[in-house]
Amino acid sequence: MKRQLHLNLFIHSRGHHEASWRHPASSPLPLTDIRYYQDLARRAEAAHFDSIFLADQLALGDDVSRAARTWLEPVTVLAALAVSTSRIGLIATASTTYSEPFNLARQFGSLDHISDGRVGWNIVTSWLASAAANFGAAGQVSHADRYARGEEFMAVVKALWDSWAPDAVVDDRGGGVYASAERIRRIDHKGDCYQVAGPLNLPRCPQGRPVLVQAGSSDTGRRFAARHAEAVFTAHMEKATAQAFYADLKALVAAEGRAPDEVLILPGVSPMIASTEAEAGRLAREVNELSDPEVGRKRLSGRFGGHDFSQLPLDRPLAPQDFPAPASVEAARSRTEVILNLVRREQPTLRQLLATLAGARGHFTVAGTPEQIADLIEDWFTDGAADGFNIMPPLLPAMLDVFSAEVIPLLQRRGLFRTSYAGKTLREHYGLPWPKSVFEEVAQSRRVVRLTR
Ligand SMILES: Cc1cc2nc3c(=O)[nH]c(=O)nc-3n(C[C@H](O)[C@H](O)[C@H](O)COP(=O)(O)O)c2cc1C
Repeated sequence: MKRQLHLNLFIHSRGHHEASWRHPASSPLPLTDIRYYQDLARRAEAAHFDSIFLADQLALGDDVSRAARTWLEPVTVLAALAVSTSRIGLIATASTTYSEPFNLARQFGSLDHISDGRVGWNIVTSWLASAAANFGAAGQVSHADRYARGEEFMAVVKALWDSWAPDAVVDDRGGGVYASAERIRRIDHKGDCYQVAGPLNLPRCPQGRPVLVQAGSSDTGRRFAARHAEAVFTAHMEKATAQAFYADLKALVAAEGRAPDEVLILPGVSPMIASTEAEAGRLAREVNELSDPEVGRKRLSGRFGGHDFSQLPLDRPLAPQDFPAPASVEAARSRTEVILNLVRREQPTLRQLLATLAGARGHFTVAGTPEQIADLIEDWFTDGAADGFNIMPPLLPAMLDVFSAEVIPLLQRRGLFRTSYAGKTLREHYGLPWPKSVFEEVAQSRRVVRLTR
C-alpha cells in the first residue's frame, strides 16, 4: 500500500488564530463547556483523523482581559472524550517538570483503559516562567535541568507501565485468585530527582503504554525525542526548515538504534480555506483585523522569557538585535529561532510580525483553495518534510469542517489518506509497533538460555 498520511486535529481555543474567539464563524459555546470538545472530537472522528490533541500550560496568560485564555484541564477532558468517541486517538499534554511520575503514569494508564487503547501523552518540560511560580519554585528551572529531570521521569513512568505483565490479572472467581503476584513487580527506582518503589496500582494498559508524543525542537529536545517519542509535533514557517528538521530527527532516531519510521514527524499547518484564493485571503485578513497588537506584544514577551518589547515601535523594520539571543532564553528555545529566522529573512515591522504570529503562533499558515492545501500537504509529505500534519484550523469548527469536506476527499482520491479506520488503537492508526512487556523479554531470554545450554 502507498505510504499513508497521518492527520492530527490540534484543538485550541475557538481556533488557532489569536482573534478566532471573536469571529462569528467560531463556536458560540463557552470554552469550559465539554460539549464543545465532544463535538469537535466527533467531527474529527467522522473525517477519520488519526487523533485529536490538547495543549496545556500551567499558568494563566497575562492577556486574559483581551484574549480567550481559558480551557479545561486536558487529562480530565480526555476522560470525557474517551467515552464520547470510539475510534479516534486522544492526546493530552502533561508536564514532566510539575507532575510526579507515579501520578502521571496512573492517569494516562487509566485513560488508556477507559478509551480502550487510544491515548497519547504529549511530553512537555513546561517553558513558561509564570508556571514555575505556581509550583513553589523560586525561579524557572533551567532548560538543561528541565530536560535532565524529564529524562529520569521517562525512566520511571516506563518502568511503572511495565510493572504488570499483560496476563497478571487472572480474575478467577472460582479459584479465588485475582492476580498473579509473580507477574507484578516493584520498580525500586532511586535517582537524583525521584525515588519510586512501584509497582503501579493499575494493570498494564491496552497499548502497553500510551503513545509518547513530544514537541521540543531545540538540540536537547530533539535528542530527547529521538530516545522517547513515537510522534513529534513541530512548528515551521517554511518547507526548507521542516525538511532539515525531518532529516536531522530521523538521523538522531537511527543513531539511538530505533527504526526511523517508528517516529512520526507532524509539522503544524493552519489553513484558511475557501473556493478561491482571493476569498481565502480575504477571510484571513478579516480575522487578522480582529487581532490586538498589545496581546501579540505580551505573547512575544512570554516566548522570549519575559523580555520587554513595550518600547519597540510598531512600524519600524525589525532586526535580530531587537531580540535577546536564543541561547539566553530559558523558555521554548526552538520557537524563538523560528521567529528570528523570519526577522532575518523578511525584516518585518513589529506590527507585521505580530500579525504573522497571530495566525498560529509561529506555525505554517496558508490561505488557499482545497486543491492548493491538498497540493501543499502532498508536497511536504512526499518531499521529506512530514509524515503527516498537525492540523490547526484558524477558526473552529468552521475551518475544520471545510478541511474535512473539501481537502480530505482530495487526499483520499490521491490514495494518501484512509477512507475508514483499519485499527482500533492510536498505535494502529499511527502504524507504530507494540511495546514489548519486560516480562516477555525476560521469558524470551530465559528460553534462549535454556536452548543454548
Ligand atoms: C505543536 C506544539 C505543541 C506544543 N504544546 C505545548 C504545550 O501544550 N505545553 C507546553 O508547555 N509546551 C508545548 N510546546 C512546546 C514544546 O513541547 C517544548 O516544551 C518547548 O518547545 C521547549 O522545548 P525546546 O526548547 O526543546 O523547543 C508545544 C510545541 C509544539 C510545536
